[in-house]
Amino acid sequence: MTRAIERVATPTARAFESDYLRPQQPVVFRGFFAGQDVERIDTLEQAVARLGHVRVPVNQQFFRDFLRFGDLTTHRSVEMTLREYFALVAQGPSSDLGISGQPTPVELRNALRLPDLCYYNCDVSRIASKWFVGTSGSTAHLHFDGDHQHVVLYQMVGRRRVYLVHPRWSGRLFPIFYASAVMLENCPEEEKRRWLDSVEAWECTLEPGDALYWPPHYWHYIEYLEPTLAFNLRFGRGRTANLLNRLHPDAYMQGIGSKLVHDDEAERDWAPVVSDLEAAHARRFATGFEKYLHVRERLVEHHRSVCADYVPLDCCVPYQDAEERIMKRYIALGYYYAEEGDAPVAIPNPRAASASGDGWPREDEPPGATSRVSR
Ligand SMILES: [Fe+2]
Repeated sequence: MTRAIERVATPTARAFESDYLRPQQPVVFRGFFAGQDVERIDTLEQAVARLGHVRVPVNQQFFRDFLRFGDLTTHRSVEMTLREYFALVAQGPSSDLGISGQPTPVELRNALRLPDLCYYNCDVSRIASKWFVGTSGSTAHLHFDGDHQHVVLYQMVGRRRVYLVHPRWSGRLFPIFYASAVMLENCPEEEKRRWLDSVEAWECTLEPGDALYWPPHYWHYIEYLEPTLAFNLRFGRGRTANLLNRLHPDAYMQGIGSKLVHDDEAERDWAPVVSDLEAAHARRFATGFEKYLHVRERLVEHHRSVCADYVPLDCCVPYQDAEERIMKRYIALGYYYAEEGDAPVAIPNPRAASASGDGWPREDEPPGATSRVSR
């Protein structure tokens, strides 16, 4: 059966760590930004009045090209203001149009004071935030995030239904890179429910003011029930996760990463695995693709022992061709494993840009003490 995600008052950092972060359990926090201005931006009218001037790249669903062509680097966007976007979708055009994973506008970010729990294991400058805008009928395809970070998703406006699946079930999700080949968006409701039950999915309907925490590596699938604005906060990547983040994300990495979230546990239980992956990262190859094949071989082997209690990933074999094709493109773009034998390309690498640090000052920090990315 699916499980309803619990709703609680936003806890202290210590209670968050013991009750949710260490057990890797999703939860919805209420009062996450209690008393702050952002709480009052809870209707479409308020959002358009406050942020309607912000220019945003609008594109078709982020995973559309991936599902059609196996490539996330080809989607195209059209720039417009947020006001223009909501006026457009109010006329009833395709629910494919949305704003997905763009940096949260500076005026919104600067107005936020983050609860202490966001600073878990985290350099202030590494807390990142993206925002998501869409309309009724939009979906976020079933996928996991490859950045090994904890996530809080804050729902400002509208309602969205979120389903989460633990990485132990990946063997039933037919992963291609970090997306699933399971097309929940095309399933009749009853069929979708049956499948979600079979992987013990968590679910909740987010209302304005809800802040959903999910642990790193969780699969997520999201349905937009109304025009929506939301943003996430991504934080807490430790030493081991930083190493894994420099390698490529696939379902083997996802499983291993989910067991190595906490440095103390990784060092206690899996030190030889961490050392071996460090060696794989340091080793030089003639081309990035050769390095990818080597790292994948190490991940496949380690997954058998580290994730012995997970559903086996045998189902991935038919999808290796697709993954290899995607990796070749990502290596050519400089996302992963740039080696001396790879021809340099003049296309900017958005992954590197987004990793350059974007954070908030703490309450006790003098203005300007936190480095900021200019956008
Ligand atoms: Fe995601």
